[in-house]
Amino acid sequence: MKSELRRTHHCGELSTAQIGETVTLCGWVHTRRDHGGLIFVDLWDKEGLTQVVLNPQIDQLAHQNAQSLRGNYVISVRGQVRARPEGMVNPKLNTGQIEVYIDDLHILNTSKTPPFSGWEDQEVSEALRLRYRYLDLRSEQLQKNLKQRYRISKVARNVLDRHGFTEVETPMLTKSTPEGARDYLVPSRVNPQKFYALPQSPQLFKQILMVAGLDRYFQIVKCFRDEDLRQDRQPEFTQIDVELSFADEATIFRLVEEMMAEIYQEVLGITLETPFPVIRYQDAIDRFGSDKPDLRFGMEIVDLGDVVQGTNFKVFAEVLASGGQVRALNVKNSAEALSRKMLDDLTEIARTYGAKGMAWIKIQKDELQSPITKFFEKEMLDRLIDRMGGEVGDTIVFIADTPKVVADALAHLRLALGHQLKRVDTSQHRLAWITDFPLLEYDEEAGRYAAMHHPFTAPAGDDLGKMTSDPGALTARAYDLVLNGNEIAGGSIRIHQRDVQNRMFELLGIGAEEADEKFGFLLEALEFGAPPHGGIAFGLDRIAMLLAGADSIRDVIAFPKTQKATCLMTQAPSTVDLKQLRELKLKFDLS
Ligand code: AMO
Ligand code: AMP
Repeated sequence: MKSELRRTHHCGELSTAQIGETVTLCGWVHTRRDHGGLIFVDLWDKEGLTQVVLNPQIDQLAHQNAQSLRGNYVISVRGQVRARPEGMVNPKLNTGQIEVYIDDLHILNTSKTPPFSGWEDQEVSEALRLRYRYLDLRSEQLQKNLKQRYRISKVARNVLDRHGFTEVETPMLTKSTPEGARDYLVPSRVNPQKFYALPQSPQLFKQILMVAGLDRYFQIVKCFRDEDLRQDRQPEFTQIDVELSFADEATIFRLVEEMMAEIYQEVLGITLETPFPVIRYQDAIDRFGSDKPDLRFGMEIVDLGDVVQGTNFKVFAEVLASGGQVRALNVKNSAEALSRKMLDDLTEIARTYGAKGMAWIKIQKDELQSPITKFFEKEMLDRLIDRMGGEVGDTIVFIADTPKVVADALAHLRLALGHQLKRVDTSQHRLAWITDFPLLEYDEEAGRYAAMHHPFTAPAGDDLGKMTSDPGALTARAYDLVLNGNEIAGGSIRIHQRDVQNRMFELLGIGAEEADEKFGFLLEALEFGAPPHGGIAFGLDRIAMLLAGADSIRDVIAFPKTQKATCLMTQAPSTVDLKQLRELKLKFDLS
């Protein structure tokens, strides 16, 4: 190896311990300053910065070479570590007590002036940052995020390995799996007019691996879903996908808790309390309006249906008469903080989730301030405030509507209020299991039931009889893991008997022929000794985002896509040659 590449240290690791030693560093010119004959260069690599000094009296040639250095040049330097003179120590830098006096300098590559420096916190648009992602990725935060993400998957792998899991790769060119999103399709050249689908998850393959007797499978795997993107969604994302045979919920929960606890311990040095609390789906909806509640603060929903029964307030009376709900939040100690404008803005939030309005009562020292108290008799008001645990200084906000609108609106009001009034303790990491989901949800548009998790999820009690009489009332053996209001994993105990799976497809309005065409291979496998099995899949990107305290999933993905599913660096997706289309026998209808 060339001597200039024989690096002895990284740029972040030199300290007074190396004073007097000769070292070789490689990196990028972060900054260059000329000072009366001396040239100072801050040299950067992934571990940090080191100040190197070029003194013509030490090496004429190196000093001369350094004069042509510009920001972002790639260099190698050799020199002696010295203590910085008094007054020149930089306490902000972990190498701030030393500098390196150079006697040999090699320019390994030059650089154009970059459109922005990834090293500095500059106000640069996200579009420009994504276009030059390699510069952006130099920022301390993104470097840290990627390393942390790697450590999360490494710990997960270790834990699963320790428990006898085998990582198995499943195909990327495959058939559609029903996880609820659209598929990304890949045309087949050798089978004209036929398409592969990129997997939305390895669900069917991992179940088949259980029939194969693999017993404990996992895979850190890319999944592809063509869906509307948000801050916590990407069209391709990574799952830590797990499946086990001869296991029930308790086995899976304990395994996952051990894995999450170890991740937190190793990556953040935080000790998580296990086991995680379990909240039934309906209780989560009743208390928080959401199946992914943020448990870092209270402000739980209170039902007022019985209290306001018989009220003269038309809005509430009509909603109750038509089978709806009247529910409210008590926002403790907020009457002063909540301005009229803030209440109006909150009303707008409620409207986005379908509410027709948002009523409120401020409990002031001598009076109630509210647009609705005039419609209530004192006695009912007293009972209402009592039910809400209302005290002077509190604000009560009400929504009256269908159960779905009430839950959605109050869930979002609770989150908005929690954040605006700083009631969310952001130093906390609150995990919980959500269980007992409904097996099916009614799809109004399609006029039929759809599986709430996926069609391979077992009904509680394997109750075939009930599957015929009252499908809407069935509970699923499905579970989600939520962290600070985000769904970070989801899974279920699966159907392992062909007849139950057949019944499930019937309930979903999937005929025998369609089931056979789409999932025949799974149905067939279920007939060849499928063991009872279940599993779970974690959203690695989301976990990495939450552990890094990042606002967007894009901040923990090296090369993420935009909200429009494009990659600004490679310009994907792009047009292709006519020749390629011809080979695939594809034609576009541009009408
Ligand atoms: P599910 O669809 O719930 O379950 O996905 C599991 C987890 O993957 C993450 N996730 C996503 N992350 C980023 N971008 C996306 N577009 C995205 N979609 C999902 C979430 C979610 O909790 N096969 C089943 C698992 C099973 O039953 O074992 C499945 O894929 O964190
Ligand atoms: P109105 O009588 O329509 O002026 O409404 C009186 C108050 O009730 C206003 O503050 C409205 O925002 C509120 N309100 C209207 N509809 C609802 C609703 N469905 N749920 C809760 N509050 C409502």
